[in-house]
Amino acid sequence: MGKRLFLAAILMGCIMGMEAKSLKKAYRKYFDIGVAVNLRNVTDEMQGALVCQEFNSVTAENAMKPASTHPREGVYTWEGADRIANFCRQNNIKMRGHCLVWHNQFCNWMFTDNEGNPVSKEVFYERMREHIHAVVNRYKDVVYCWDVVNEAIADGGPNPYRNSRLYKLCGDEFIAKAFQFAREADPKALLFYNDYNAIIPHKRDNIYNMVKKMKEAGVPIDGIGMQGHYNVHWDNLKEVDEAIRKYSELVDVIHITELDIRANKDMGGNLDFKKKAEQAITDEIKQKQEERYVGLFRVLRKHKKVVKSVTFWNLSDRDSWLGTHNYPLLFDKEYQPKEAYYKVKDF
Ligand code: G3I
Repeated sequence: MGKRLFLAAILMGCIMGMEAKSLKKAYRKYFDIGVAVNLRNVTDEMQGALVCQEFNSVTAENAMKPASTHPREGVYTWEGADRIANFCRQNNIKMRGHCLVWHNQFCNWMFTDNEGNPVSKEVFYERMREHIHAVVNRYKDVVYCWDVVNEAIADGGPNPYRNSRLYKLCGDEFIAKAFQFAREADPKALLFYNDYNAIIPHKRDNIYNMVKKMKEAGVPIDGIGMQGHYNVHWDNLKEVDEAIRKYSELVDVIHITELDIRANKDMGGNLDFKKKAEQAITDEIKQKQEERYVGLFRVLRKHKKVVKSVTFWNLSDRDSWLGTHNYPLLFDKEYQPKEAYYKVKDF
């Protein structure tokens, strides 16, 4: 379908209250199909229409993170998060909350007092608790689940935990506290531990052991978020399958929370932006990407009892945190569906 025709069809569908067959419709018997959005995606008419047409779950890419909502003690900046939440309220789309506690884009002021001296663990927990209650309460009508703790497990090395400022101050206790505070704030929300490279056996086992230990101690972890920042060069279906099987021994719900399949050879949630060199997309890479997406969704459909949501990390290649030239999503930089879109939808 030509660009104009595709966009016109979306707008017509929204105006008439009808929808062309879309990703969310194709997958309605399997799992929710979500997308991470920035402000432009929900304020631009055409992009907003595309979100409504294709997706039934939305994650704020950055707007609900601690650094965005709570930059200083006693100062909350809700504007970006409110605009995305209001878009979802108006269009009846549920939200995945992202995220409450992370070593990155966090409230670094929580670690020090007015003079810049380190605070005690107790003071830190009081601040973290207040933050979690404020955010969770504000959006509890539209956010049905939260990534409570993000990326607390290390990529390698002898210590399974990431040696973050959080870990240095609190050990792994901050994980338990964060989940307890989130459960207090909204007993109905589903609470997730979320991480990248969650299919790599060493890290997968460390995530598994941590969640197991926490759950045995009564920490309210409901689900595991497998981020899914993959690349086209890695045939990882076996690893995806094994990770889902393993995690489902512990939890009833698994979400793929941050899916993209990039053209370069990096993977995971970190990116050395110096590596973001331009690269032409060859037919071979395009084809590999289609194969990866098709194979991945086949595995995910097989696990529909436990995989309840699959969220793409960004709407189009233009919006991707990886850059246009990594070509990682189903919609291109003109918001046009790629061949991979049709192959994922028409299975
Ligand atoms: O807001 C500032 C803006 O004021 C400034 O002008 C601009 C100049 O660079 O930067 C803006 O901040 C950027 C922010 O995104 C908002 O666009 C930061 O530099 C940039 O580092 C930040 O990147 C985000 C990244 O998390 C931070 O680690 C990406 O957009 C976001 O997609 C990414 O998302 C993470 C998930 O939350 C967790 N899992 C990994 C995933 C990918 O890294």
